[in-house]
Amino acid sequence: MRTKIVAGNWKMNKTASEAASLIEGIKKEVAGITNVEVIVCPPFTDLKDAAAACAGSNVKLGAQNIHWEANGAYTGEISASMLKDLGVTHVIIGHSERRQYFGETDETVNKRTKAALDAGLVPLVCVGETLQERDGGQMEAVVIRQTKAGLAGLDISKVVIAYEPVWAIGTGRTATPEQAQEVHALIRRTLAEIAGKAVADTVRIQYGGSMKPDNAKELMSQPDIDGGLIGGAALKADTFAAIVKAGV
Ligand code: 13P
Repeated sequence: MRTKIVAGNWKMNKTASEAASLIEGIKKEVAGITNVEVIVCPPFTDLKDAAAACAGSNVKLGAQNIHWEANGAYTGEISASMLKDLGVTHVIIGHSERRQYFGETDETVNKRTKAALDAGLVPLVCVGETLQERDGGQMEAVVIRQTKAGLAGLDISKVVIAYEPVWAIGTGRTATPEQAQEVHALIRRTLAEIAGKAVADTVRIQYGGSMKPDNAKELMSQPDIDGGLIGGAALKADTFAAIVKAGV
C-alpha cells in the first residue's frame, strides 16, 4: 500500500512573506490529514520562512533543485546540506522547465538525485515527453530513457517519480486518466527492470500537468497514480488543499 503524495511546485512564484501566508492557509485546510503526504516546494529564497510556517504541522518542505557538489566554487548553486539545514526534506529534480531552459540532462539529473539520496533528502524525479515526442511515437522511449538514465546506479527505493507530460504543463490540457495510467504503468515496469518488482511496487509515482481539484480524484484513483505534482493550482490554499483531499 503506497501512501499518496501531493506536492506543490510553486516554480518562480511568491515572495517569502507571501509563502508564509500561503502555507498558513494550506495548514488550516489540511490539518489532520495523515494518509496523504503534503509537500510545498517554494523558491529557495522562501525556504527559511516557509520552514517556520510548516513547523509542527503535517506540511513538509521541498526545494525545486539541488546541486550535486557539497560546496565550492559553483556560483548560484545550492547544496544538499544548505537545504537540510533549513528543514527541507524533499527536492524536485529534473523538471521539464529545467531540462528545456537550463540545460538539465539525464546525466545531471542522475548526479542531483544521487546527492539528494546521499543527504537523506527525498528526490521527486521528473520525467515526461514533449508533444513532438508523443506525436512522433517516441513517448515510451523517452520516458524509459529518462527513468533509467536518471536513476542509473542509485537505490530507487527512496525515490519518488513524477510523470509530467510536457504538453500538459500549464496548458490546461491534462492527460486523460487512461493516458496517464498507461505511462505510470510503463514507468513501474521500468522500475521493476531496474530493481525488481517488489521494490518497484513500493515507489510512488506522481502525475503532474494541469492537475486541478476537478480532475485530481479520477487521476489519483488509477492503480499506478500515487499523487500529484501541482503547479498553478498549488498557488492557492483552497485549490491545493482540494487536490490533497481528493487523494484522501
Ligand atoms: P501545472 O499544474 O501548472 O500544469 O504545472 C505542473 C508542473 O509543472 C508541476 O511541476
